[in-house]
Amino acid sequence: MQSRSSFELHPVAGALGAEVFGIDLSNSISDAVFSDLHAALMKFKVLFFRDQDLSPEQHIAFARLFGEPMVDDFVKEMDAYPELIELLQEADDSGYNFGGTWHSDSTYRDAPPMGVALYARELPPFGGDTIWVNMELVYESLSDGMKKLLNPLTAEHVAQGYREKMSIIKGDYTKSFTKQDIIERNVSHPVIRKHPVTGSKSLFINEAYTLRFQDMSEQESKPLIDYLCSLATRPQFTCRFRWQPGSLAIWDNRNTMHFAIGDYFGHRRVMHRYTIQGDKPMGISE
Ligand code: SIN
Repeated sequence: MQSRSSFELHPVAGALGAEVFGIDLSNSISDAVFSDLHAALMKFKVLFFRDQDLSPEQHIAFARLFGEPMVDDFVKEMDAYPELIELLQEADDSGYNFGGTWHSDSTYRDAPPMGVALYARELPPFGGDTIWVNMELVYESLSDGMKKLLNPLTAEHVAQGYREKMSIIKGDYTKSFTKQDIIERNVSHPVIRKHPVTGSKSLFINEAYTLRFQDMSEQESKPLIDYLCSLATRPQFTCRFRWQPGSLAIWDNRNTMHFAIGDYFGHRRVMHRYTIQGDKPMGISE
């Protein structure tokens, strides 16, 4: 697939995701190329670039085209690059696998990130792939009755269990855990989200952070949340990326979920992540 610019797009799966060829992200990106890349991101929801030799400054410069960096609540910024966090899994880390649940990033915040530009610096010889889900396709697959039920609902999102998970990561990785206010924020979002650029509708819940539907108990909400989350992760709604050193993925966090597979015990994996600021999710009647 040829874009207006000189790069080529090769879809990696029917549901979402495309590899971008013929572009060197260490160069400055013209407005015309950026506009085509942005359009491609809106269409494919996650873009993959291989064999990129990027300094942290170049990674940041590329990601910043899509938006300002967002400060993570839990993970410390890199000392030299406050725009980046380092996701580091040591060879003998047997505890928590960062990103190893189905989630959209930080939906426990009022304005979750618009997206992420993740760059692979060191990878295990096998494993460590990431999987994404197209939550618009999941919404489209629902029956009319289920859409009607979900359309007006909002759901509460919390950073449940995060503190415990992060405390078992090795190393000087996490921010101070005195931030009880983060755990106790009362954040609710529409269950069906309207995309601010395309206007498309997507299912906007995830197993990591969605606690309950508004005005319903956790116990009442759980069976439906569990059903929707297991539906969402059916293979036909996903794509999977095999990272190589120098790969960069940029995804739209507003209509996707992802899962980082922790299947490389005994090997090190180092990723640099730039999180792009987002806005407050809109419901479909807004
Ligand atoms: C994440 O959830 O942001 C981490 C993804 C990954 O490390 O593959």
